[in-house]
Amino acid sequence: MFRPRRLRKNLAIREMVRENHLNVKDFIYPVFVEEGENIRKEISSMPGIFRFSLDQIDAELKEVVDLGIPSIMLFGIPKKKDAEGSESWNDEGIVQQAIRYIKKNYPSLYVMADVCFCEYTDHGHCGVIVDGDVDNDKTLTNLEKQSLSMAKAGADLLAPSGMMDGMIAAMRDALDLNDYPNTPIMSYAVKYASAFYGPFREAADSTPSFGDRHTYQMDPANRIEALKEAALDVEEGADILMVKPALSYLDIIRELKELHDLPLAAYNVSGEYAMIKAAAAKGWIDGEKVMMEKLISMKRAGADLILTYHAKEAARLI
Ligand code: PBG
Repeated sequence: MFRPRRLRKNLAIREMVRENHLNVKDFIYPVFVEEGENIRKEISSMPGIFRFSLDQIDAELKEVVDLGIPSIMLFGIPKKKDAEGSESWNDEGIVQQAIRYIKKNYPSLYVMADVCFCEYTDHGHCGVIVDGDVDNDKTLTNLEKQSLSMAKAGADLLAPSGMMDGMIAAMRDALDLNDYPNTPIMSYAVKYASAFYGPFREAADSTPSFGDRHTYQMDPANRIEALKEAALDVEEGADILMVKPALSYLDIIRELKELHDLPLAAYNVSGEYAMIKAAAAKGWIDGEKVMMEKLISMKRAGADLILTYHAKEAARLI
C-alpha cells in the first residue's frame, strides 16, 4: 500500500517535502498617506493599519525596512477633492510628496503608487462622471496626467486600479513619450466589484456617494472575462498582472499563472484582513495561523507577489 503519511511523520520530513514557501521578499505593504499634520489614525475596521501624515510616518517605514519587506504601495488621501480628482496629478499633491520623501529617506524601499481617482473625487468614483457613469476615455486623459506626475515624483512602479478599458496602453504611451520608458506598470488586470473592499473605503475615504462600481469592476461570477481582461493588459504592455481580491479568486490566480509568463500579484484585500482580525479578537479562530494558511494558499495558487496588510505580522513569523 502506498502510504502518504510516511512523509508526514515529523516536522523535519514535512519541511523537506514542503512545496511552497512564503518569502518576505514577496510582500508589498499598502500604506495610506494623508495630507496634513500630526495624523496617525487607526482604521477602525482594520486594527493595526493607520493613516499617516508625512510627519508621522517614519516609525512605520523604519519597521517595514527593518523587517526586510522590499516594497510599499502608496494610497493618498488629499485635503481637497473635486469632480475630476485633480489633486491626483498635482506635483505637490500628497502622494507626490510622499514618494519624494520616501525615496530620499528610505532609498532601498521600492515605492509603488496606486493610480486611481476614487480617493480624489468628491463623488468617490474612479474617474470623470458623464451622465451618471464614469466616462472611460475622459478618465484615460486624466490617468495619463496622474501617471506622469507620479513618475516625475520618482515612483518606482505605477499600479492602475481603476479598471478603465485601454488604461495600460494609455499609460504606457504617456510614459514612453515623456522619458519614462523604464517605469513598469503593474496592472490591476482582473479586479472584481467586491464587497471585500468595504474597510478600504473607510481607510481611503473613497466610498462612492451614489451607485456602485459595477459598470467598471468585474462581475464576481465571471471567469472567461478575467482571461480576456488579463490578455488585453498583456497586449497593452503590462509588466506585472494582478488579481484582486485574492481569497475568493484563487482559481483565477492559478489560471493566469498558467497562461501568462508575467509575474503575478494577488491583492489580499481589506475585507479579507478585517474578517480574520474580527474573528481572532473574539477568540473564534487562531488569527496568526489562519493568516499564514491564507497567505500560503495564494502562493500555492500561483501568486509571485502578495499585497497584504498582514505583511509586517507575517514577516515576523516567517
Ligand atoms: C481604488 C482601490 C480600491 C482598493 C484598492 N484600490 C477600492 C475600490 O476599488 O473600491 C481596495 C483595496 C482593499 O480593499 O484592500 N480604486
